[in-house]
Order: sequence, then C-alpha cells, then structure tokens
Amino acid sequence: MLDRPTVTAPALDEPFRRGPAKPDLMTVEDAKALDVQTMADLFKDHINPGQFHFMKLLGFNKVKVESAEGMYYIDQNGRKILDFFGGFGSLAFGHNHPRILAARQRFQDEKRHEIAIAFLSQYAAALARNLAACSPGDLDMVVLGSSGSEAMEAAVKVAERASGRKNCKIVHAENSFHGKTKGVLSLTDSPLYQGEFKLVGNTYKVPFGDLEALTNAVRSDPDIGVVVLETVQGGGGIIGAPTAYWQGVRALCDKHNVLWVADEVQCGYGRTGRFYAFEHHGVVPDVTALAKSLGAGKAAVGAMIARRAVYMKAYGTPKTAMIHAQATFGGIGEACVTAIEGLNVLYDDDLIGNADAVGAHLLARLNEIKSRYPSIIKDVRGQGLMVGLEFHDFSRTLPLALRPMVAILDEKLKGSLSGFIGALLLRDYDVLVAFTEYNRNVIRLEPPMICGEEHVDQFCDALDALLARGIVSIVKDFVKSQMN
Ligand SMILES: Cc1ncc(COP(=O)(O)O)c(C=O)c1O
Repeated sequence: MLDRPTVTAPALDEPFRRGPAKPDLMTVEDAKALDVQTMADLFKDHINPGQFHFMKLLGFNKVKVESAEGMYYIDQNGRKILDFFGGFGSLAFGHNHPRILAARQRFQDEKRHEIAIAFLSQYAAALARNLAACSPGDLDMVVLGSSGSEAMEAAVKVAERASGRKNCKIVHAENSFHGKTKGVLSLTDSPLYQGEFKLVGNTYKVPFGDLEALTNAVRSDPDIGVVVLETVQGGGGIIGAPTAYWQGVRALCDKHNVLWVADEVQCGYGRTGRFYAFEHHGVVPDVTALAKSLGAGKAAVGAMIARRAVYMKAYGTPKTAMIHAQATFGGIGEACVTAIEGLNVLYDDDLIGNADAVGAHLLARLNEIKSRYPSIIKDVRGQGLMVGLEFHDFSRTLPLALRPMVAILDEKLKGSLSGFIGALLLRDYDVLVAFTEYNRNVIRLEPPMICGEEHVDQFCDALDALLARGIVSIVKDFVKSQMN
C-alpha cells in the first residue's frame, strides 16, 4: 500500500511553489520495470483483490507480458504464449498490427487534434461514414463511444425513444450479456452482476432462440417496444439461433411496430465470417452495436449504428439532437483514426474470409478431437472464429478417491474442467484461452482473425496432448499446482 505523503511545512531553502508538492508517483519507466510480485501486490492493493484470487487459480498471476505481437504474448521469461483468448474478440488484428501502429504514429507525428466537442471532427465523420458503408440497409446513423456498454446504452436509448411508447418495455434474453453500466445491466441476465442494484424496471425476459415465447410476450403487452438480443450469445457460452428464428424476430417486430436491437459487440466485426453475424440470416435489425475489435486492439472504440428513420425519430430535430449526443471521448481523434485504418485492413487483408476458412478448420479439428474424447468433450459449436468448447460436468463422474481433492477448491471450479484445462494449457503448452460468464463448462475461443491454420494446429495439438493425459491426471496436476 501507498505511504501517504505527510504534509510538512517547506524548508526555507525549498523553491516556492503555488501548487501541492508532487506525491510519490511512479513513472512510465517504473511501471514497465515492475516485477511480477510487485505488480500483483499493487493489483491487490489498488484494483481488485477478489479478482486476483481467480487469476491466481488459473496461474495468470505468474505472467508479466513484456510485449505482444501478432498471435503471441511474450512474457518476462521470453515465453511465447499463443493467444486464443483474443481479448473476448477485441483483437481481430492480433497484437500491434504494423498498419495500425503506423496510422497512429502518423497521427501523433502530425500533431492532429483529439477532442471533438467544439469543432467537427474529420476523423469521427469518416469513421461514421465507413461504418455506414459496412452496414446493410439504411443502418446509417452512428453514435461513437469508448466501450461496448456505452454503445449498447446508446442503442437501447435510441430504440426506446423511437418506439414511441411512453412506458416502453424492453425484452431481453435469458443468459444475455449486454454490459455492466446501470442501464444495460438491467438487460444482462446475471443475478451476480445485477446483485443488489436498483435496476431499470421496464424489462421482460424470454428464453433465447424461442420465437414462441417472444411472440407471446410481444402480443401480450403493447408497451413492449424494444427487443434486445445478442446475435450469438458470448457470455452464455457461444449460443446461436437458426435463421428461422431471426427471420421470425424481424417479422414479429415489423408486425407489432417493435424495434429490434442486435448486440454485435462480441460477435460482430467479421468474427463469424460476415461483418455482422445477423447477415448470415438475411435480416437487418433496426439498431446494432459494435465495440471490441472496432478499436483494432489499440484504442477503446464503441459504436451504435441505427437505421436513419429510427435515429431521426429519436433525435432528428434541433430540440431533440442533444438528448443523446456523443460523450466527451466519443469520436476522439486517434481512436477514430485507429478504427478507420482497422476497417481498411479488415477488408484489404480479407480477414473476414480468413475467419470463415480458418474457423472451419478449427471446428473440424475440434470435432475430430471430440470424437476421440467423448467422455470429456460434450459439444463443439460456433461459426468462424467464435467457437465454444463445452466439457462434461465431471462432479459426479470423477473417481471417488479424487473428490475430496476437488472439494477443497473454489466453488467456481467444482465440476468444471474448463478452469483446469485453461490453467494447464497455459502452464504446460503456452496457450491462453477464455472462459464464459454463465457456463463454467465452456471454453471460449476467439483468436485474432489473422489466425492461420498453423496456429489452429498449435492450439489443437496442445489440447489433444493435454486431454491424452486423462481426467485423473489433469485434476491431480491442477490441484497440485494450487498447493505451490
Ligand atoms: C455482447 C456484449 N455486449 C456488450 C458488452 C460490453 O462491452 P464492454 O465490456 O466494452 O463495456 C460485451 C462485453 O463483453 C459483450 O460481450
């Protein structure tokens, strides 16, 4: 913990200063040079001691990333860690893509302006125009922000206003994740995250992918004016829905004058093999949202994109224009330039086509591995480079002798192989994977979209070798790692 500065009168020979004395601050060089232990102590003292507990369980606390390039992190020991986590879909271009770095460097060298509140921004204007060009139909109007939650807040607000209902109710899905800011938290189906907070009370929950339930809800309550759905549920464990469902959602919303908001924060930006995942189904929502890879792995950028008519109904007059205009950092210069260059690289390098092709290779290899370990792997699913690997819950199948060992572990890990496998993939095979919010048996694979078949093979060979050790050895190894 910090030693707080004690306030003492300046010595007579100290130079006079008007402001407070400089506190004991670390410099950038100090930050870069922190050792793993000090970094961990500072995280516990000043960020989130409880979260550190989980990072320790997974062995993430032992890694200090010194640099990152392409598909790999490089740690303090020069170890190359293959990134199949991909920042939950935030790293389409991998780490430090040279064209993204160069665009940012040029922007800095030319001393361009950042904050776009007083004057118009050429960068925000061009990014909004590019997003409209990438979006089907008349999804033309853009609100820029700096996170997925902010983009989703803007999406829900524009839809609510344009719905024309005074007491507009909003439908969302079971196991949904739309962010943690107070508004969209009300649409995020997690008792843990919602906790004790006072939420927005106008929401209505239906099972994901169940058109009948959605139809019944919309028919039963004319105040329902907005339906908010992830096109592929990420936090729910990589869950999609068939084309018939999405076409039914579109038809239902049209019939009842309800607006459909498609949350594409995680599944959008080409990850599933189309720019938007809803494009697989031949439908266009009224409002959508992007974030994560929109910032090309270097900037925090989120965007709401609405159909022009919807936007104009909500904010189209001088009187209503400022109800939800961009926040201070919405459309900030270097972030916009980063996103503009990102969109150009995405198409120049055909990363969407690559996600489609390499994703098919990943699914094929995982299905082959599943066929050899049917008692361990329950399901392989997904599209493009958004893939879920679900393990069987082993709490009841584990040999009796091992159960007491597992019982001492954290509640979150019991019965869940994904934590054990994730931890050992990192420790023994230099591979990083992600977990899911609501289904502890699912590993989420969202590698950068620059991923090649050779990276898929590296990952799959590692998984194969780990599974070949058998459940008993995996559990024993993991439990042993917790004793050290
Ligand atoms: C589908 C979806 N919507 C919204 C969000 C919130 O994005 P952020 O964490 O940038 O606020 C996320 C984040 O994981 C997400 O997956």
